[in-house]
Amino acid sequence: MTYDTKINMDEFVMGVKLLRWHLVSKAGGEVLEVASGTGRNLGYYNYGGGGGGVSGPMGWLAGLLGWRSKESVVTKLVLTDKSEEMVKTAKDKVSTMGLRANIQIDVGDGSDLSRFADNSFDTVVDTFGLCSFDDPVKVLLEMQRVCKKDGGKILLIEHGRSNYWEWLDNVLDEGKDQHVEKWGCEWNRDIDKIVSDSGLLVDSRSKWHFGTTSVIHGRPKQRADEAR
Ligand SMILES: C[S@@+](CC[C@H](N)C(=O)[O-])C[C@H]1O[C@@H](n2cnc3c(N)ncnc32)[C@H](O)[C@@H]1O
Repeated sequence: MTYDTKINMDEFVMGVKLLRWHLVSKAGGEVLEVASGTGRNLGYYNYGGGGGGVSGPMGWLAGLLGWRSKESVVTKLVLTDKSEEMVKTAKDKVSTMGLRANIQIDVGDGSDLSRFADNSFDTVVDTFGLCSFDDPVKVLLEMQRVCKKDGGKILLIEHGRSNYWEWLDNVLDEGKDQHVEKWGCEWNRDIDKIVSDSGLLVDSRSKWHFGTTSVIHGRPKQRADEAR
């Protein structure tokens, strides 16, 4: 069973696909997605007229629901992940989905985006990456560095401890090692603290699944050396 097959049904039942669609509908211009995995967000970007993605009926629906603004057309999409296997799957997915947009996919570490200049992307996306990075704050700092200080957006969906339901956080703490072994992610991380330590400016934050999933719309702090 592939990684995608394993998590497809879970994501459907938990409404995660809707969260992805809603978040990614806000991405526009030159977009960088870090830790892009198998490219599970590829189908939710709006690549404009002939590019594929959600420019058909789903795009119309996203517009109707007010999820999308005029700027949310992706002119260039760069996906990067440190796993060669994930990158290969994402590349295959671009072909299978028939996406004709300007999409580049490479292998790279999210904590070192030095191949990208400061202020170079209009939108920087990460979904379910902060639980997996060795140094999640460093990745958020890099995401902020490459995101345009003037009008750039940072869009996140992350999971971690609820910081509210003690019983639930205890379950996450107790099952952490097993979960790391199975999925390579620490599901009990404190996402609010990681985000705050990185200095990211948060415009909106919503919590789902008893507070364990956070959807964050943010912007880079104004100087790369403002935190840490
Ligand atoms: C839980 S998966 C999420 C994948 C994808 N973003 C999604 O929403 O389905 C975590 C991903 O982070 C990647 N990853 C872990 N550490 C990384 C790092 N330092 N730099 C880039 N990618 C990393 C893994 O290879 C994996 O694809």
